[in-house]
Amino acid sequence: MRIGIFGMGYVGVVSAACLVRDGHHVVGVDAVASKVADLAKGHTPVQEPKVAELLAEGHRSSRLVASTQPADGVAQADMVWICVGTPSTYEAGVDLANVTTVATQIGRSMVETNSRPLVVLRSTVLPGTMQTVVTPALEEASGLRAGKDFHAVFHPEFLREATAVEDFDNPPKIVVGERDRGAGDVLLRLYEGCEAPQFRLTLGEAEMVKYCDNLFHALKITFANEAGLIARSAGIDARRVAEVFCADRKLNISPRYLRPGFAYGGSCLPKDLRAILRHATIQAVPVPMLHGILESNKAQIESLVNRVCAYEPKTVGMVGLAFKANTDDMRESPYVEVAKRLIGEGVRLLIYDPAVQVDNLIGANKAMVEKALKHLRKLLVKSLSALDKSDLILINHASVDADQVSRWTGMGIHVVDLADIPGVAADLTEYEGIAW
Ligand SMILES: NC(=O)c1ccc[n+]([C@@H]2O[C@H](COP(=O)([O-])OP(=O)(O)OC[C@H]3O[C@@H](n4cnc5c(N)ncnc54)[C@H](O)[C@@H]3O)[C@@H](O)[C@H]2O)c1
Repeated sequence: MRIGIFGMGYVGVVSAACLVRDGHHVVGVDAVASKVADLAKGHTPVQEPKVAELLAEGHRSSRLVASTQPADGVAQADMVWICVGTPSTYEAGVDLANVTTVATQIGRSMVETNSRPLVVLRSTVLPGTMQTVVTPALEEASGLRAGKDFHAVFHPEFLREATAVEDFDNPPKIVVGERDRGAGDVLLRLYEGCEAPQFRLTLGEAEMVKYCDNLFHALKITFANEAGLIARSAGIDARRVAEVFCADRKLNISPRYLRPGFAYGGSCLPKDLRAILRHATIQAVPVPMLHGILESNKAQIESLVNRVCAYEPKTVGMVGLAFKANTDDMRESPYVEVAKRLIGEGVRLLIYDPAVQVDNLIGANKAMVEKALKHLRKLLVKSLSALDKSDLILINHASVDADQVSRWTGMGIHVVDLADIPGVAADLTEYEGIAW
């Protein structure tokens, strides 16, 4: 294939080096003349293992050329990749100047050279950027229509500097965000034979996936560092603790607890987090991220209460009160807190939780719920159909099915799903998920 790559930085140069090695023809375009001059001689403008050799070989084979002229990257190209920088603005936003400049240049060059390559954005951009910035810039500059005259897709890059060639060849996944189904076909042909899982997503989903990855990587590092400081303050070698932590592939290094949903609660997480934070404070160990977890969990509850109250419901039904389904343990259940808050807002509550039997409650569980919800006995209902009188229903536990959800929404009851009930139609009116 013939591929124009705009932006000869770390991402662009590594991509060019690997693509020419794989037999493709690459035109590297950059605004900095000295970089282009280096590339034109087969020299690398960035230091990355293996890149110098691959570029030199590409130069010898004449499959790599470099230019400062956008039209050279677009003429007769099957694809153009945009790999320009998206640095922070001074107020921490994303500076899209390079991306819009290049999109405009590509749009103009498509008309000048009568070429209609697939436009592939690889630079990291916030959700919505392809739809509201890049595609309009391409359309405006070319006078062409995306989806009809040409296609533009988002294809996030996951390589890491210092192992970039290795990562380019063995990506953790291949993600293509498409506005029009099939738009990324040409791009995916490049990855035939590559074992990485492939995901075809909407543009927004693909843009968000990239941020989610980087957020999580930053979070993991900070978590390990803060836990390390606490361990060290207790005279413990944190490396050994981390080893054992990572060996747990069931609960720790796994998809467990990574589904978007609602606040955590129960008899262990809140109390243990509080205990370790107090210990860290006494030891003067700075762990702001761990402190932030408490704040974040409270914010989840606050945000849900506000969301419910915005509908001004007189009666709210709740499916589930205990901290999870099939237990009557209500100690630090976030749903108890939501119930308490809604009562405080003057809402009438109807709660269905078959595992909670007031007469069977004992000990700390009983004491806690008596304090938080004095009249629990009066709030509990015995059947799901008793919730039909609600104006809004919160599904806290996944103990109802999609048919029940559509029965309620069909009755005009607004349903807020915190539990991700399987099989609910995406276009159901009167239905919203906590994070979907
Ligand atoms: N570096 C990484 O490890 C990495 C990994 C994944 C994703 N990304 C993302 O990829 C994008 C590029 O990152 P990078 O590290 O390669 O950036 P970089 O700063 O190394 O390179 C960007 C290149 O774009 C060129 N450029 C800027 N405006 C131009 C224009 N109008 N025309 C032509 N060239 C122009 C610059 O001269 C520079 O050579 C960023 O959005 C980044 O967030 C980077």
